[in-house]
This record gives sequence, C-alpha cells and structure tokens, in this order.
Amino acid sequence: MDAIRNGLIFGGTGKLGTALSRAFADGWNLRAVESTEADITDKAALRALLTAERPGIVFNAKVIGGVDACEQAPGLAYRVNTRFPAHLAELSLELGFTLVHFSTDAIFPDCAPGAAHTESSVPAPLNAYALSKYGADCLIPAITPRAYVLRLSVQFGERPAATQFVERMLEQALHGAPLLRVAADVVSSPSYSQDVAARVRQIVEQSAPFGLYHVANAGQASLHELVFTAVKLLGLETRVEPVPSAIFPALGRRSRVTPLASEKISALRPWQEALADFCREFKAARGGRP
Ligand SMILES: NC(=O)c1ccc[n+]([C@@H]2O[C@H](COP(=O)([O-])OP(=O)(O)OC[C@H]3O[C@@H](n4cnc5c(N)ncnc54)[C@H](OP(=O)(O)O)[C@@H]3O)[C@@H](O)[C@H]2O)c1
Repeated sequence: MDAIRNGLIFGGTGKLGTALSRAFADGWNLRAVESTEADITDKAALRALLTAERPGIVFNAKVIGGVDACEQAPGLAYRVNTRFPAHLAELSLELGFTLVHFSTDAIFPDCAPGAAHTESSVPAPLNAYALSKYGADCLIPAITPRAYVLRLSVQFGERPAATQFVERMLEQALHGAPLLRVAADVVSSPSYSQDVAARVRQIVEQSAPFGLYHVANAGQASLHELVFTAVKLLGLETRVEPVPSAIFPALGRRSRVTPLASEKISALRPWQEALADFCREFKAARGGRP
C-alpha cells in the first residue's frame, strides 16, 4: 500500500472523525488514536507515538469546541486547539507525514448580508475558542509546508453521541419536545460532515497544493432555517420558533454571520440536498422511523 495511505486520526470519536473514518474506509488504512494512547499535550509522548506508527498522513479533528467551554478553560483550549496542532506541524516536518488540520468559520467577524468569507478574508477572533483555533491556522503554515488547513462551518451528521447543536435539537424533537426556540440571526454554511469528509479525501488523493481551503456545502442558512428544515424533513410535530440569539445566556462575544465560500475549490452540493440525505439516513438508522 502507498505509504501516504497509512494514517492516523486524532479526534476519531467526534463528528468529523467519524465521517473521516467512513469516507476513507476503502483503499486507505486509517486508525483513530484513542485518547488514552498518548497525552497529546506532551510533545515527547506525541513524538514517541508518531515515530512508532510512522503514518504517511495525520488528520487532526480533535478540538475543545464550544465558545462557553473555551471561555471557562482558555488554557485547555490553547493546549488542545493551538499548541497540539503546532506540535503536529513540527513533527510533520521532522517525520515527513502530511498534516490535515481542521479549523472554523468562528474566527471571522460578521460579514455583509448575502456575502461569505473566503480564504483571503481577514479573521478577527472574538473569543477564546476563535483565538485558539486561529492560533493554529497561523502557526501550522509557518511551521510546515506539508499541511492542509481546512476551515469548516456548522456541521450536521451522524455521531456516536448527540452532543452538538443540530443533533441535540433533533434529539429533543424526536423525544416529543413541542417547541424548539432557535436563533434566526446566526447564519452559516450548514455542511454535512459526510460531504466534507468525501471532499477531504478528494483533496488528498488529487494532491491539491498544500495550504488553506474553505470546505462547505453551498448556500447559507440561519440556525433556525436549518433546524426547521430538518424537523420538517423528518416529519416531526415540533414547532421551531425563530428567536434572536441574544435571549440565550452565553459567555464571550461571538460572531453571528459567518458563511464560508472558497476561491480555490468548488462548493459542495447545496446544503438542503445534503440535509435531505442526512435526514433519510437518520430515519433509516432508526428503522424507518424518525
Ligand atoms: N462541528 C461543527 O459544527 C464544526 C464547525 C466548524 C468547525 N469545526 C471543526 O471541525 C473539527 C472537528 O470538530 P467535530 O465537530 O468533529 O468535534 P467533536 O465532535 O466535538 O469531536 C471533537 C473530538 O475531540 C476530542 N476531544 C474533545 N475534548 C477533548 C479534550 N478535553 N482533550 C482532548 N481531546 C478532546 C474527542 O476525540 P477523541 O476522544 O477521539 O480524541 C472528540 O470526539 C474541529 O477542528 C472543529 O473546530 C466543527
């Protein structure tokens, strides 16, 4: 097997990690690193693991996600979201593997209505999460030329546990919640983690030039529009009410309008088509019932 086709995934239990394992299942040999295998905040332990494994490629989908969580633990956010990817970049140079790292639209300020942030838009991180992610976006290309930094927008997709926004909303609707109140002023490019992972595979297999790419389904939507559409596609009774995000208590300042577009690669299919497929899979996984 081609050496580059042997690789490791950090964050394999997460939403994107799960999608990556699925998208690279055939023709590749990717192994998800268990969190007990190495203290990823310790560079020597990381070097020992990577030296023993000799991966051709390393995917970093590990993250301390969530603005509130990072405001409460900015040191942990820095260690996992900034320093760990920087160590991976240093080790990519030292050991010769390709690094694929994931970033976020949360580093950007609000953009004008209807516009979207591209790879050349100027970031303005407003909180500890955005700052910790932007730190890695800057450090990785400064350290190694062998890296892809792929910025993503709000993801929906299968995940072992429904800990993230979209899946949490759907779980509540599935359990008969009569009403969900969802922010109508938070706008992004909703993306299906399975579509994103398939595009990651294309980028890697086609040996696209290393560097920064925005990867998102086409179009933009508010969180309200996203959840409303999913609930409708699943045939659930729950009423989804549009509300301003200011009614939800939150730590840290945050951007609200951050859709992504790419000036380097084509957009994925429209988010509505991707959401319809996700909802079909969601139903099928539950024996045809939502
Ligand atoms: N989900 C979204 O809406 C979204 C939007 C924009 C960008 N992104 C980006 O996409 C990437 C993947 O995100 P995701 O949605 O797949 O995240 P996720 O589902 O929350 O998974 C993150 C993974 O990180 C690891 N992790 C969590 N807490 C940790 C801790 N305290 N210490 C060490 N590891 C920890 C866990 O994996 P292990 O236990 O397997 O190591 C976890 O499964 C991130 O770079 C994120 O910034 C996601």
